[in-house]
This record gives sequence, structure tokens and C-alpha cells, in this order.
Amino acid sequence: MHVVSTRTYVHFFIAGRSRFVRRGTVGMKNTVATFQEMKQKGKKISMLTCYDYSTAKLMDEAGVNSLLIGDSLGNVILGYEDTLSVTMEDMIHHTAPVARGAKNALVIADMPFMSYQASVYDAVTNAGRLMKEGRANAVKLEGGAAVCEQIRAIVDAGIPVCAHLGLTPQSINAFGGHKVQGKSAAREILEDAKRIEEAGAFAVVLECIPADLARKISETISIPTIGIGAGPGCDGQVLVYQDMLALFSDFKPKFVKNFVDIDIKPEGIIPTVGSMQACFAAFMAVTECKKGKDTVLFIDPGFPVQKTQMQVIGKPFESFDGAKNYGRNWKNIFPREISLPSCTATRITRLGYVSRTRN
Ligand code: KIV
Repeated sequence: MHVVSTRTYVHFFIAGRSRFVRRGTVGMKNTVATFQEMKQKGKKISMLTCYDYSTAKLMDEAGVNSLLIGDSLGNVILGYEDTLSVTMEDMIHHTAPVARGAKNALVIADMPFMSYQASVYDAVTNAGRLMKEGRANAVKLEGGAAVCEQIRAIVDAGIPVCAHLGLTPQSINAFGGHKVQGKSAAREILEDAKRIEEAGAFAVVLECIPADLARKISETISIPTIGIGAGPGCDGQVLVYQDMLALFSDFKPKFVKNFVDIDIKPEGIIPTVGSMQACFAAFMAVTECKKGKDTVLFIDPGFPVQKTQMQVIGKPFESFDGAKNYGRNWKNIFPREISLPSCTATRITRLGYVSRTRN
């Protein structure tokens, strides 16, 4: 999955028209059944990690299919160097507010290290706590054949289970670090995928495995695969949102790309509330504030936003479709647009208009 700069991504995200947002699923409750349906229809599934109420509301409103309260909260929220110290209490504490904020997204809570490995009894009891106290819709646990007994028992208790194969961070000491998995153990991972499907898992996260292996697994098993650093052949994609928005500097996964890292100086930003009046004011200000720069560049979010105000004030404008150019390196496209001798770049979001003038 490719991302652009923090702010650019937030723009797409809030505009609610990003590639993550699948028309037809917005406004509809996502369930294990709709996940299965999406796989059958070839519709891609979006999943983001989430750890609090207000972010859950934003992501839910934007139409993200699933919110994962990952034990990655150990790294990005609690500041641990790995996920091993995360407790059941931590997971419940963060799952409950996400569940309160998510109306339509499927809420999946990670089972933390040693909450399921030691016994089937622990696994069912702790999965039950995440559902009962955290109000999750499903739980996720790491491992293949070794945890099939636990998966079966949790599913028998009426709790949907998402499995997790490849680089499983709770086994970081066994792996000797964060390394791509499956280069030599491809057959084993494929076998694990078949076993967890037989055990009753409704989906599986594939983390940091070669893209061709992930594609093969996705074609072989009938439950959805959700990839992270596993190439485009999966049935869905998941990202830790701090990685997606470039908010976390301790560790930068190789598969998260920051295409355009444009910083906007505060003095170049005109915040508005999105009213017609404010749009006029913003457009008039940006087109007048710098001599010789009177053209507004609209970065359209996948459809042409209306430019009537520009026509009314009689100023020139150009447009560039950000969403249609998703995944391309904007640096190769942008200069042509922005270096128009008199261009002022304008971003459009549902929250209002944010404009800037290029020097
Ligand atoms: O803990 C987590 O956030 C995860 C994702 C990286 C899939 O397991």
C-alpha cells in the first residue's frame, strides 16, 4: 500500500473518497459475512489499526471496513520496544472506546502475548473478555498449526477469529528480529493458512511475506487474506495508522512509502468552515495575496469538485486528480502542474478549504 504525505493522505481520508473507501460498503455494517462476500465479489477490504474513540469515529465515517485494535499499541501508544508487555487490561482499555466509536466497521481486537498460547482455556476465557468487556466483534491471534486448537475452541464459543501468519511480532525473539518471513518456509506458511481455515478462522492477516506467496495463499484459501507488506495480491490491506500518516518515527516499515512530503507553512493556510462565503473569501485571498499568482490548482479527490466560486470571482484555475493518480509518484506529475507560472495550490476537504501559495 502506498501513501503520500501525512497531510495529503488526511485530505483523501477525510474527503471519504480514497481507495480505502469502497462504495457500497459505506453506511453498511461490516461483518464476517460481508467480508466473505467481499472476497467472493473481488472487492478489496480495508483495515486500519485504531486505539481510541475519536479516531474510530473518523475512520468509521470514512468507510474503513475494519478497525483493528492491534497489540501494536504497545509500540505506537505505550512506547514499548515490542508487543510482548501488552496486557489483556491494555487491550480491553483500548478496545472499548474503539467499539463505541465504530458504527459500521468490524472491530477486531488482538489477543496479547501469552493470553492464548498456554492453554485452550486461557484462549477462550480471554477472547470472551475482549468481546464482553471490550465489545469487539472478533479477535485476532498469531500463529498457524500451533494455535489451531485454540482457534477451534474460540470459534466454537461463538467468537469469530482472524488469524495472523508470516511475521508475527509476538514471536520476535524466536525470529531474531523483524524479518520478511516465508522466503524459505513458503510451503509451511501455505499449509498453516489451510489449517487455520479448516479450524474456522474467518480471515487471516499476512504480514511481511513475499508478494507471490501472499497471492498464492489468497487464491488457495476461501477466507479473506489481509496483507501488510505482503503485496497487492491479498483480498485486503491493513496498516498501522501511525505508519500510514508518518506519525511514528521509532521504526519505519519498508513497505510504507511517503511519496510527497510537502510541508505547508502555517502562514500559507487559510482554514475555513466550508461555507460558501468562506470559500469565496479563501479563493479571493489566495488569488490576490501574491502578485502574479492568481491561478488556483484544485486537487480533486477522484471526482471533479465544483469550481463555481472561481467562475464567479473570475479567476483562473487548473485541476489535478489526486485519487486517479493514487500510487503514482506525484513528484513526477506535480511539478508540471504546480510550476505553472501563476499557480496557487488548493486542497479541498470535507472540512473546508485549505489553500497555500507556492513560492
Ligand atoms: O498489532 C497490529 O497492529 C497488527 C497489524 C500490524 C496487523 O497485528
